[in-house]
Formats: sequence, C-alpha cells, structure tokens
Amino acid sequence: MENFAFYNPTKLYFGSDQIEQLKHEIEQYGQNILMVYGGGSIKRNGLYDEVTNILKDAGKHIFELSGVEPNPRVTTARKGIELCKSENIDFILAVGGGSTIDCTKAIAAGAVTDADIWDIVTKKEQATGSLPFGTILTLAATGSEMNAGSVITNWETKEKHGWGSPYSFPAFSILDPAYTKSVPEHQTVYGMVDIMSHALEHYFHHEENTLLQDRMVEGILQTVIETAPKLLEDLENETHRATILYNGTMALNGMVNMGYKGDWATHNLEHAVSAVHDIPHGGGLAILFPHWMEYAIDENVDRFKQLAVRVFDVDTEGKSDKEIGLEGIQKLRDFWNSLGAPSSLGDYDITEDSIPEMADRTVIARDQFGNFKSLNREDAVAIYQKAL
Ligand code: NZQ
Ligand code: ZN
Repeated sequence: MENFAFYNPTKLYFGSDQIEQLKHEIEQYGQNILMVYGGGSIKRNGLYDEVTNILKDAGKHIFELSGVEPNPRVTTARKGIELCKSENIDFILAVGGGSTIDCTKAIAAGAVTDADIWDIVTKKEQATGSLPFGTILTLAATGSEMNAGSVITNWETKEKHGWGSPYSFPAFSILDPAYTKSVPEHQTVYGMVDIMSHALEHYFHHEENTLLQDRMVEGILQTVIETAPKLLEDLENETHRATILYNGTMALNGMVNMGYKGDWATHNLEHAVSAVHDIPHGGGLAILFPHWMEYAIDENVDRFKQLAVRVFDVDTEGKSDKEIGLEGIQKLRDFWNSLGAPSSLGDYDITEDSIPEMADRTVIARDQFGNFKSLNREDAVAIYQKAL
C-alpha cells in the first residue's frame, strides 16, 4: 500500500425524509440559488415542488437551469455559468443524477473565473475556486454526490473528458432512497453496472498489502450482485433502493481505494464511445469491461483468480489460474446479461466503421492510458473489435 492522504469534506445525509436537512443547510448561503436539474423526472415525481417549497419558505430567490442532458454538454454548463455571473448566484443546488451533478460542478467552477470551462475540463487551465453547491441525488450510479469528479461532453468536437478539482466536492448531499424509486428499469441496470465498474476499476492494481481494500471492493460487488435481481423484481422496494444507493456512494467516494491507484482504462474507452455515439455510460461499461478484462488478464492472473473465487464462487478444481480467472469474467458477463444490460456495441448499432474515430478519442488526453495495463490506440482498436 502506498502512502496516502484522504480528504472528503462532503456532508452526507442518507435516508428517509432527509430533505428536511435542506432547510438549515441553505440558511448559511446568500439569497440567490440556482437550481440545476435534468429533463423533467423531478417534476414528474414531485421532488421539484418539494425542493422549491423549501427554498421559498427559506426566503430564497430561485433561478433555474433545466434540461441538463445525460452525458452533460459543455454548452449547458456555459449557460449556467452565464446565469451565475449575471444573477449573482450565491449557491447552486443540483437535483438529479450524475449528469446534473457533474454539470453543476462545471458551472460552479466556471462561475468564479474568466477561463472557459472547456479549458478547465481539458486541463489547459486549472480551476481556481468554486461557488458552493449541494446535491439532492435521484439516481444511484456515479458517486458524483460525494466526490470531486465531473465528466463533461463537447458535442461539437465529440469529446468527453473527466476533470476534477479540490474545490469541486459538494458541500452536502441528500440521499433519500425514495427519490430513486422512479428510476426506470434500464436506467437502474446501467446505474448498478456503473457502481460495479467503479469497484472493478479499483480492483485491478499492482499494489501489495491491500487486504482491507480488496475486501471492501469485493463487498460492494457482492452486495450489488445479491441485491440487483431482488430490486429488478420490485423496483419500488425502498430497502433494496437504499442498499444500491449506499453502494453507489461508497464505490467512488475515495473510501475503498486508499493507498493504491486503480486502472480506469475501461472508463476512458467508454467515454470515447459515448462521446461519439451518446450512449448511456453504464450500457457502454457493460459491453466493454469483460472485454478489457480478457485483454488484461495476463498482466496479473492472480488478481483475476482472486476475483473469480471470492466474488463469483468459481470452482477451482482441476483448473489453471487463468482458466479460473476467465471463468470469473464470463460469470460477470452472464450476470450483467441476466439483468438485461447490453453485451455488444452492435446493441447500440455501433459498427466497425466508427472504431477509428472512437479509438482516436481514447488518446486525446494522453498517448497511453490505464494504470494496471497500459494501453495505446492500437489496444483500444483491438478491444473495440472484440466488443462489436
Ligand atoms: O434528466 P432527467 O429527466 O432527470 O432523467 C434522467 C436521465 O434521463 C433519469 N433520472 C434520473 N433520476 C431519475 C430519473 N428518471 C426517473 N426517476 C429518477 N429519480 O435518468 C437518466 C440518466 O441520468 P444521468 O444523470 O445521466 O445518469 P447517471 O447518474 O448515470 O450519470 C451519468 C453521467 O455521469 C458520468 C457519466 O460519464 C455520465 O456522463 N460519470 C460521472 C462520474 C463522476 N462524476 O464521478 C463517474 C462516472 O464513472 C461517470 O463517468
Ligand atoms: Zn462510471
């Protein structure tokens, strides 16, 4: 395990009726609140009314930025930044899924600088600060509610990049599982695939003595595997929604991956696919992760064997370590398929023709990517070919 420092200032309110906490949390901020949300799910499930009533009762002036897209666009972030500057916004409240929160992080950083937010996303400029912001999460998936990361898409250049800054942690996040009950089945599946993928990205590293970290990451995978089928049988079940919601936060808030660096190549491969084809993040991960694993297994067969045995209960009798590892990968693929997740790029009508364009996008930020197995553009082409 490497030396590490851990810092996470986000205050988390988890459970039923925690929206009550919004009242006193916003007291300390100024009058002008920008409420950021997506395409309207919060209007359909009543959360919009609930939140605006609390803000009005607190005497706040509410400004709104609606229509944040899944795979949020830099153009939408720029609109929010303009609003913040023209209306002297004091605090931003994100109400929605990872896309709404990520867009809010970009708005908050862009509001306090003259730099263009795309230059910050592409790391030509550094974030110098941020307006304070909080979140009310409605979808279990990204972990954005308790981390400082944000992923923004530029549709003109077909680029999608992750960025982050020490200023980009939410001040608070309110997680009530009841708000996630209206997430449709397919989106629920994508969210669970994303959560498991964050755990898997952590799992593949070369660091030694990560005994507790391994067990925590395996715990996330096992808990999602145990809960997912029950939740899909009963989408309104608040107990299962709570389990998945808590898993989503823990998978990417920095708590289970102290002291080592995970791989993250598959996220880069997926972001390149959704930059070109605008597909859901979790759908892309379900397709690509098992292929990346098969591609990377020789890098450290023991890690794959450990995963297969501990998480997927693979029987080891008479098999080589690699056979055991490969069986674990197949079990992961079978599990995701059993939930109804896509398994090939063809499921999104993505053909061989777009592989060069997607592969180009995997190496915009750097020529090599992936900390467990270092990949280049040719490797990306090979993995996309297998995933067709
Ligand atoms: O826009 P609305 O109408 O709200 O509908 C959304 C959207 O269509 C809907 N939804 C959300 N909550 C709902 C609901 N529908 C009904 N009931 C509810 N309670 O779900 C759809 C998808 O929402 P989105 O926010 O896009 O999903 P998700 O949370 O999966 O976020 C995906 C984005 O996050 C990025 C992804 O790349 C993608 O752009 N990521 C962000 C990360 C981070 N900041 O740490 C890490 C991740 O690996 C990921 O890359
Ligand atoms: Zn992800």
